[in-house]
Amino acid sequence: MPAALKFGFTPFARPRGVLVVFCEENLKFGPATQRTLAPIGELLRRAAAADRFTGKNGTVLDLIAPGQLNVPRLIVVGIGKAGDAKPRDLVKFGGVAMGKVPSAAAQATIFAEFASGALKGNHVADLTLGARLRAYSFDLYKTKPKEGEEKADKVEVNFACSNPAGAEKAWAQTAAIAGGVLLARDLVNEPANILYPGEFARRASSLGKLGVNVEVLDVAAMKKLGMAALLGVGQGSAHESKLVVMRWNGGKRGADPVAFIGKGVCFDTGGISIKPAQGMEDMKGDMAGAACVVGLMHALATRKAKVNAIGAIGLVENMPDGKAQRPGDIVKTMSGQTIEIINTDAEGRLVLADVLHYVNKRFKPKFMINLATLTGAIIVALGQEYAGMFANDDKLVERLTKAGEATGERVWRMPLGPEYDKMIDSKFADMKNTGGRWAGSITAAQLLQRFVNKTPWVHLDIAGTAMGSPQSDINKSWGSGWGVRLLERLVEDYYER
Ligand code: BES
Ligand code: MN
Ligand code: ZN
Repeated sequence: MPAALKFGFTPFARPRGVLVVFCEENLKFGPATQRTLAPIGELLRRAAAADRFTGKNGTVLDLIAPGQLNVPRLIVVGIGKAGDAKPRDLVKFGGVAMGKVPSAAAQATIFAEFASGALKGNHVADLTLGARLRAYSFDLYKTKPKEGEEKADKVEVNFACSNPAGAEKAWAQTAAIAGGVLLARDLVNEPANILYPGEFARRASSLGKLGVNVEVLDVAAMKKLGMAALLGVGQGSAHESKLVVMRWNGGKRGADPVAFIGKGVCFDTGGISIKPAQGMEDMKGDMAGAACVVGLMHALATRKAKVNAIGAIGLVENMPDGKAQRPGDIVKTMSGQTIEIINTDAEGRLVLADVLHYVNKRFKPKFMINLATLTGAIIVALGQEYAGMFANDDKLVERLTKAGEATGERVWRMPLGPEYDKMIDSKFADMKNTGGRWAGSITAAQLLQRFVNKTPWVHLDIAGTAMGSPQSDINKSWGSGWGVRLLERLVEDYYER
């Protein structure tokens, strides 16, 4: 990522730096684009023919120092038929465009125009969002760039559009979402020696400067509340467990809030039921649910959303140790229900059991949505395309499904039911923390459901989508920041439309 990336919005005029334009099937350009490209009309037609470029979605034509056009490079991004473009497509096009700007280039102009003409302000903002997300990389611990990967210190990207002031205004809102996604990615990408529960809590506390009320509960406070399930997970760690409660009150005074709860296992070794060494380093990302909640609260506060929202994250580190919890141990949750630990690697549900109950009891939220990298089994079921969605409320499912299709952060509903619930009944306690090999994601969700009572609730299992995703047009980094855009859209829909 360049040290400084600045977006501007200008009228259609002579482009500065690398020029990016969009092109629909059969080489159809918008009017301003056509005018600008007129001097190289013949050259462009020949280059397109030579490369068999026709403007199909997903194709790009790249011309270096194109003839009479006074730019170092012209990039033509094929978008197929723009007529049926959803917001998620606009974000993607912005990502594709940004991805084609060489990282050493200091200046680029993107013509925000399709064949049918200039884009509306909010569509320009969606393009800009895609460009911003694509430009992100996590280089904090690289002391020198690899050869050929040098980056310009300062990059200026101008979007040419018909109403620059309108686009600027729309971007001011959308930039808040970009900021939330990038914050979530940073948190997921940070290693666990840097981002342990205490440090995570400090970073969440910095939302205070945006007007978010942040409380940090330490071990003593959680002991008092009776959160033995959460505390049991962290008891083998040298780092103290924390519970962070964030409150953004932008809505009607006294109106019940909506609540978002995140699994924040800063590192998951598996504990005494230790994981194999292969790939264990990925478990620094086992706090991605919590990262998403922080990113979401950041976005809501930055754009001063007219909502009352709670964000609560349970922060622990799951380590093997002389003090660590054992298989066979029985813990009493804050709700009073007891859990027999069968496998100390099924720790996320133990953390969430206490946080869900706490939030439900203290805030009486309109609904609760929790996010967690909860099970490997959800990756087996859905891969990295969809997050698993478990819910006790059809209306919320419908809203999330819709928000998922709009943003591209898609969710797929999985079943719950008494037959699955039975699988976690225990010989010694009210329940056990694993239900055996079959239906692993579902039995995990069944345990969570035992802690939400009748409150409308959704559990999103994001083990597949939160990290290590196949590199996409809008993300080149390991942590994806998945869920921030989805939930931001849900909140917007719920309150403001
Ligand atoms: N954090 C893991 C789940 C996970 C796996 C997240 C891969 C991301 C990528 C979770 O705590 C876990 O270990 N789950 C176990 C549960 C089992 C012991 C019942 C699993 O999925 O194997
Ligand atoms: Mn685990
Ligand atoms: Zn875990």
